[in-house]
Amino acid sequence: MTHDVIVLGAGAAGLMCAARAGQRGKRVMLIEHADAPGKKILISGGGRCNFTNLDVAPDRYLSSNPHFAKSALARYTARDFLALVESYGIAWHEKTLGQLFCNGSARQIVDLLLDQCAKGDVELRCGESIGSVGHTDGAFTVETSAGSYSAPSLVVATGGPSIPKMGATGFAYDLARQFGLKVVQPRPALVPLTLGGEDLLFRELSGVSTEVVAGAGKAKFREAALFTHRGLSGPAILQVSSYWEPGAPVTVDFLPDADAQVFIAAKAQNPKATVRSTLAGLMPERLAGELAERIGIPVPLSDCKDKALRAAGERLKRWTFHPNGTEGFAKAEVTVGGVATGELSSKTMEAKKVPGLHFIGEAVDVTGWLGGYNFQWAWASAVACAEGL
Ligand code: FDA
Repeated sequence: MTHDVIVLGAGAAGLMCAARAGQRGKRVMLIEHADAPGKKILISGGGRCNFTNLDVAPDRYLSSNPHFAKSALARYTARDFLALVESYGIAWHEKTLGQLFCNGSARQIVDLLLDQCAKGDVELRCGESIGSVGHTDGAFTVETSAGSYSAPSLVVATGGPSIPKMGATGFAYDLARQFGLKVVQPRPALVPLTLGGEDLLFRELSGVSTEVVAGAGKAKFREAALFTHRGLSGPAILQVSSYWEPGAPVTVDFLPDADAQVFIAAKAQNPKATVRSTLAGLMPERLAGELAERIGIPVPLSDCKDKALRAAGERLKRWTFHPNGTEGFAKAEVTVGGVATGELSSKTMEAKKVPGLHFIGEAVDVTGWLGGYNFQWAWASAVACAEGL
């Protein structure tokens, strides 16, 4: 056998795992089908890579088994990755909500990972497409467009199918199924929602952004929402999209800093105020106009009964949209679902039924919130895996 470990996929998790395993003395080959490693890292965080989050906690991850991620996340923390970043002199800042970004470029994170791989003597092969993977006599054999390699350990770090035009594939799921492992139905997450019917009229607000509390199921997020020409986006909507089930409503509180009495209070202060003028003091003018029109109280507040004003306030506190879908994997930052956690050891990410076979990163049914949580899972699951190899 030519190597101790073959890692498939040179993205966030694969690079980290290969580097760690190499530095622990393993002979590692890392195979990537794209022409260069870490392409998603390069475009992440608007080119500055939101590489971790200081508020990482297991309840900020979606998974069929909410306990699965605990062990890996506890053993390799946001502070650990931050220490690595600082050891390379990479300047960083906290943007908001514990989200840490490079001051410079995401390229610095890719370079850091490549340097870590070099320190572990990792053999990186890019531009090789994988044909088949076999398993005989305790060895995994990987046939690629350039040759045949074998090792007793195989780590699958090929991510999920979000953004296929960047080389993303469902390869990990096919391989899991080939080895008899279950896959939790993958669906796009951290993805814009599309609107139809009555809601379509909101398309006229394309480009308008406002702070809201968006909700889907039991999940609620206070951040910006953005109207787009196809529906709704912005961090608050991306967050709830991961929890949204097709057919379910999404609620939006357009008055996160006011209560349902907002118009009654405004009337007391200024009887000539209108719904529109009151809203214009709380949100962008165009949105205030659109919402006021839908509420349909064109007269001064002094002409309205408190009951009607309270009802208007309540409607704005719980505006209900009925998305007709999402923008799909083409626009999704991540994938919910993936290789079932019940098939893997939470300590080492090794398949319980297939010794030597491991799945890490986005390929696994663990999906983080927006804001650096997904990279932290990639780092943590990679380190957990590498330490068990
Ligand atoms: P990743 O996708 O990084 O790597 C998989 C690798 O495997 C890729 O290099 C791919 O080419 C390769 N591959 C796929 N199929 C293969 C095959 N058949 N053979 C060989 N190689 C194959 N997260 C975060 O925490 N902070 C952020 O700022 C962002 N920003 C962001 C922006 C955008 C636009 C997107 C799309 C996503 C993000 N994310 C993010 C999410 C983050 O990028 C994602 O969670 C991680 O990259 C997942 O790491 P993995 O290593 O698991 O997969």
